Amino acid sequence: MSNRLNTSPNDLRAFWMPFTANRQFKQNPRMLVGAKDMHYTTSDGRQILDGTAGLWCVNAGHCRPKITEAISQQAGEMDYAPAFQMGHPKAFELANRLVDIAPDGMNHVLFTNSGSESVETALKVALAYHRVKGDGSRTRLIGRERGYHGVNFGGISVGGIVSNRKMFGTLLTGVDHMPHTHLPAQNAFTKGQPEHGGDLATELERIVTLHDASTIAAVIVEPVAGSTGVLIPPKGYLKKLREICTKHGILLIFDEVITGYGRLGSPFATQHYDVMPDMITSAKGLTNGVIPMGAVFVTSEIHDAFMQGPEHMIEFFHGYTYSGNPIASAAALATLDTYKEEGLLTRAAEIAPYWEEQLHSLKDCPHVIDIRNTGLIGAIELDPIAGEPTKRAFSAFLKAYDDGLLIRTTGDIIALSPPLIISRDQIDELFEKLRKVLGGVA
Ligand SMILES: Cc1ncc(COP(=O)(O)O)c(C=O)c1O
Repeated sequence: MSNRLNTSPNDLRAFWMPFTANRQFKQNPRMLVGAKDMHYTTSDGRQILDGTAGLWCVNAGHCRPKITEAISQQAGEMDYAPAFQMGHPKAFELANRLVDIAPDGMNHVLFTNSGSESVETALKVALAYHRVKGDGSRTRLIGRERGYHGVNFGGISVGGIVSNRKMFGTLLTGVDHMPHTHLPAQNAFTKGQPEHGGDLATELERIVTLHDASTIAAVIVEPVAGSTGVLIPPKGYLKKLREICTKHGILLIFDEVITGYGRLGSPFATQHYDVMPDMITSAKGLTNGVIPMGAVFVTSEIHDAFMQGPEHMIEFFHGYTYSGNPIASAAALATLDTYKEEGLLTRAAEIAPYWEEQLHSLKDCPHVIDIRNTGLIGAIELDPIAGEPTKRAFSAFLKAYDDGLLIRTTGDIIALSPPLIISRDQIDELFEKLRKVLGGVA
């Protein structure tokens, strides 16, 4: 007996799709069947300009030969190696190559399989670090309203997106949240970093006073909050967070799952904003989105604190069957080669002024109440339809897809993050299409 709900080979019901309006999709599916460089091909043979690098991950564009070749070669050479108590050269080579591009002081890497796992890993390192240092009362974790740190329990606990949290019980205990930095009344239509809101970082002082620093392990923030609809850090904000964390012995974690690997015009947002955290979480662009893989960067100070006790003992009881998987490692190495050969980790800095100018030219489009940008990231916030939040942006998403453009929406915000190879002509095309879309939505 089959568990299939229908024997048709194209029945769509078995797959319960992630973060998707399943019923809407299955009535009118949007199927992608091919991809090359800046474009997807749909099942009805249309070309779709990729305005989102897949899901903020395909930074070098699609189906890049070096990466696909590295994967097939590695699959034939050694498909899998145990990750615990055994090694293979490519994982070590990759860790070295990653610390080469990481901010100074980020000397060690733990491998994961996703952004969510990178976040869980970093939070656990933070708790365990204080404990191995004899400071085990530091168990609280501080996140931020509207933050997105993946979908696992640690990540949704420190995260601040209500829909991602409210169905799932009481989450982790001992978590508090700083206020978000979205201040449309003061900052609407700012190009780059907003002027207002830097002082919101001092809210961390209030939280420290409430709980006492001796109970707080770590603060985690996205340098640029992406999934909530692109919130750029106000001027001075990240530096202030760093100062407060340092003053109170609290670890600062930057979740760079979307900002890592060139999105802002530097390898990491840490370098772009010149504020050094104690850990960086990453994933997505690490393998150009091709194979699931994440990496958590930690300082030597953190790593070395664990290297004690008998040498035959495991120092940190954490890891995944696929940590540093050989095929993922090969994909990541080829990705880093491609980034290097084409200067992609810094290309966003060159193209950002043009991107900014074209993005902000949509200011006069119907329903637009804010536009914000940094690096190769843009957001267009729409006035919600009264009583029907998210509907206007979702209509724009559907219309854009029909018109040959992939955008991403969250709430009533359109978020854009194209592959870092996008040309000026393609930027023009993207915004021409979007202008038409915005003119056409109710
Ligand atoms: C900042 C941030 N952290 C974590 C994640 C989760 O990554 P994943 O979906 O690979 O688990 C995301 C995904 O968008 C993200 O933007």
